[in-house]
Amino acid sequence: MMLRNVRLLVFGPLVVALSASGVLMAAPPTPASPQDEVKQVYVKKCAVCHGEDGAGKTAKGKKLKMKDIRSAEVQKLTPAQWADAVLKGSGEDMDGFEKELGVEMSRKLATYMRDLAAKK
Ligand code: HEC
Repeated sequence: MMLRNVRLLVFGPLVVALSASGVLMAAPPTPASPQDEVKQVYVKKCAVCHGEDGAGKTAKGKKLKMKDIRSAEVQKLTPAQWADAVLKGSGEDMDGFEKELGVEMSRKLATYMRDLAAKK
């Protein structure tokens, strides 16, 4: 009788602590949505220069004198021109991604960037 109570005293808080820290509640990871996938590619392949927010304020972006995707100059591009920049590259400093990422992903990235620009 006594012994049981002691056990509860000792293990009760331990179980609570473990649950709170997530050890006992390893939730299955939620599958990435298609939008997440595009974002991941953007962060991996594009953010070095363009920055995660598209402002181009990265070390590399500054060196290349990147334009903010929200600047008037970039904003006047048509959706087709955005996609073309991703597919074929832009100027001397950005190579096209058509071969590496495929047409579909390149187009999605262009859309992702336009949405990014519209957000702020
Ligand atoms: C090595 C650096 C670099 C990387 C990596 C890079 N870009 Fe660029 N990108 C540039 C530069 C430089 C320009 C030229 C115009 C400028 O200054 O913004 C440009 C232009 C563009 C443009 C035309 C609009 C604009 O901002 O001028 C788009 C769209 C674009 N990039 C998308 C992408 C996408 C999507 C990726 C990833 C798949 C990517 N870029 C990766 C450097 C880069």
